[in-house]
This record gives sequence, structure tokens and C-alpha cells, in this order.
Amino acid sequence: MSMSMKDEILKRLLAANGEAVSGQELADTLGVSRTAIWKHMQTLQEEGYIFETVKKKGYVLTGVPNSLSPTQIELFLNTKRFGREIHHFDVVDSTQTIAHKLAQEGAPDGTIVIGEEQTAGRGRMARPWESAHGTGIWMTIIVRPDVSPQQASSFTLVVAVAVTMAIKTLYKNVEPAIKWPNDLLINGKKCTGILTEMQAEADLVQALLVGVGINANQVETDFSADISDIATSLRLEAGEEINRAALVATILQYLEQFTDLFVHEGFASIKRLWEELSCTIGQRIEVTTIRERFEGVASGITEDGVLELTLNDGTVRTIYSGDIKI
Ligand code: BTN
Repeated sequence: MSMSMKDEILKRLLAANGEAVSGQELADTLGVSRTAIWKHMQTLQEEGYIFETVKKKGYVLTGVPNSLSPTQIELFLNTKRFGREIHHFDVVDSTQTIAHKLAQEGAPDGTIVIGEEQTAGRGRMARPWESAHGTGIWMTIIVRPDVSPQQASSFTLVVAVAVTMAIKTLYKNVEPAIKWPNDLLINGKKCTGILTEMQAEADLVQALLVGVGINANQVETDFSADISDIATSLRLEAGEEINRAALVATILQYLEQFTDLFVHEGFASIKRLWEELSCTIGQRIEVTTIRERFEGVASGITEDGVLELTLNDGTVRTIYSGDIKI
């Protein structure tokens, strides 16, 4: 997709790295009037970008907004489909709810919904998900893979791999690990949760609603007492402010790649990577499903993404969904 004029101007100001960019030069090289440039600068200012005007030299970009606006994300985006339609809100109940509606109305594959804050963010097993304003990444991606509903059940593991790879790429000093099925832990504490919901007919997936919640810039006191012992943020672990827009774009890049691999070659093609990135396999764990509780060793996952648990008497149970304690 081609960049808008506004994005192009922004890109040049960012590339100038603190040096002044002349309005006349922008107008000449982009083939528009000085007034047009000025209007775009006004819009950027309204979006939270800060400029200084240096006499006879031009504009210097001195501040960017902490926002997941389409403009911010598109600066880093390198995908074909994912993130090419972005619905960005300040406050929502849950991005899942909005994504469900958009998917029913026909939103294309790769559409994303982002809220700076969620007032009713939800996790797996009907748990609430803390989603304070401007701190984390609260997003739902609408994915329309050409697979059966049965095959789609392992897609949530694919998402965990994509998010893990994105975090590893941008923050070399943190070691995220996947806890089955799809929590991301850093140093044993949860920094990311994934909730995948489905719209399907008997043998046809209409859409997967992939909810990703990432604790990005929280500090310890931002978490409620309920979760402060078990939750962490990327900023706490990496020791630096997280550029949320760059992370969103990197996740979308990996997710597009892994989705294509998953659709063409099945989960088997990603299984090895999932196992490498996981902290579950080989561990003694306790599994709670809706009906039962088991203890054993997580011995592997199947080609379909199902967890295999070897019980004390040596029998192997397959676990489709549940919660585990390591
Ligand atoms: C979990 O670990 O239980 C899954 C958490 C998923 C949270 C994300 S945040 C964006 C999307 N909207 C929601 O209401 N939930 C998901």
C-alpha cells in the first residue's frame, strides 16, 4: 500500500534525526505546495507530534506521541496483508468484541483492532485482563486462514511463536518462553496472553479473532495487587522504554509469515520452533481441565498442537485445553 503524503513527510522528518528539514524542500521533492505541507504538519501536531521551527532552516521533529495510531504503526510496517487495515481507539470495552463485529461485516484478512485502554479486557477461561491506558498492547487481529475449524485449534500456538520471535528480535536481552498453550513468560512471570476465538461453520473457518495482550511499559506499581507477583512487563525485563508501534509491526510481520506457513504446510512445520521456545516440555506439571486434574511430565506436543502428558504409570494422556502449573 502506498504511504500517504502525511506519512511520507513524517518519515523524512524522522530520518533527519534531529536536523531541520526545510518546508520548501519537502514541497519541491514531494511535488505539492507549501500550504499543503503546512496543513499536514498541523495534522501531525494534532496527533501529538512535536516540532520546532528553526528560522530559515525548517522543521525539527522533537517529540513523537506514545500512541498506536495507524500512522505510528505504518512507519514500521513491512507486511502485505496484516495491519493494512487498522482500527485504533482510545478506550474500548474489549478489542475482541469490536473485532467480532468487524469480521461479521466482512473485514479483510489481517485487519487489526487496537485500544489504548480496555474497560472489559478478557482473558482465557472468562478471566479479566488488566488493560490500563497507553501502557500495553491490547490488540485483536482478524485472520481468515483457509483451514478447517479443527486445524484452526492449533493456530493459537502459532501466534505464541510469532509474538515470541518478535520480542526476541527487538529485545535481545530478554528470554521469553512459551508456557503451554500460549502464555509468554519472562523470568517466570507473565508478560503476554493470547486469546483466540473463532467464527466458523461446520467445516469452514470464517475468521479467527486473535487477541494479544502484551504488558509493555508498565512499572511494578501499575499492576493490581492480584497479579503483581505473577505479572511483568517488557520494560521491566528489558530495562528500557518499549516502542509499542515497532513491536506491533514486528509481530504482524512474523504472524503473516507463520500464518502462511501454517496454512500451506500445517502446524507440523512450526512444531519444532514452538518446542524450542517453550518452557513446558520436559517439565513435571499439573494440569487442570474443566473436569479433571492430572500430574505428570509434559513429554511433547503432537503434530496437531495437542499437549502430551506422561503420567506416573507411564500412560500418555493428550490434553486439548486447560491450565497448567509448572
Ligand atoms: C489470557 O492470557 O488469558 C489471554 C489474554 C488476552 C488479552 C487480549 S488484550 C486484546 C484482546 N482483547 C481482550 O479483551 N482480550 C485480548
